[in-house]
Amino acid sequence: MIAPSILSADFANLAAELKAIEGSDWVHVDVMDNHFVPNLTLGLPVVQSILKVTDIPVDCHLMIENPERWAPGYAEAGAYNVTFHAETTDDPIAVARDIRAAGAKAGLSVKPNTPIEPYLEILKEFDTLLVMSVEPGFGGQSFIGHVLEKARTVRNLVDAGELRLVVEIDGGINMDTIEQAAEAGVDCFVAGSAVYGTSDPAATVETLRQKVIA
Ligand code: DX5
Ligand code: ZN
Repeated sequence: MIAPSILSADFANLAAELKAIEGSDWVHVDVMDNHFVPNLTLGLPVVQSILKVTDIPVDCHLMIENPERWAPGYAEAGAYNVTFHAETTDDPIAVARDIRAAGAKAGLSVKPNTPIEPYLEILKEFDTLLVMSVEPGFGGQSFIGHVLEKARTVRNLVDAGELRLVVEIDGGINMDTIEQAAEAGVDCFVAGSAVYGTSDPAATVETLRQKVIA
């Protein structure tokens, strides 16, 4: 699956920017609060507007503190998948259950230097694992390769039938890096600048997809 990130889109023309990626599997929406990450983007009202103008399943990536308070609202609004960060809560299982109860898939994300081992036991409560391959906060950064070990670890558990989970990667994915992520067992590839930095985003999505279809 390819999930373009609208972080690199024109925020004044979101409806057109969503049309420009028709055919994408998910659209990735980065919610930042300027506390968990040093950047501020958009929140629930904008996500509600996005949901009105697109049929592409919306993948909300919450880079915010206090997901207990905010995450279920994105699920209630109709997001397909709501991912929050492991670093932001002491009770990720409760947040996951609240997201699922509100009707969305639940995702857990880990920053590049956050190990996955402490979370393996609780991943059965989740539908998605979002492995960050840049420090969250900004688009256009370089891919951090060592995070692929985490994707591999979780992919092996999925292949062994111990987990059912989409393994998603976010940050620095482009024509040069997507294949190594696919080789590590990633199912869903977020790409911001690599998609919206091109003149035909939908064609770029298709080219990225072709690179990982064996
Ligand atoms: C960064 C965001 C990413 C960002 C990726 O914190 O989570 O989704 O849009 O941008 P690129 O693909 O340009 O690295
Ligand atoms: Zn993201």
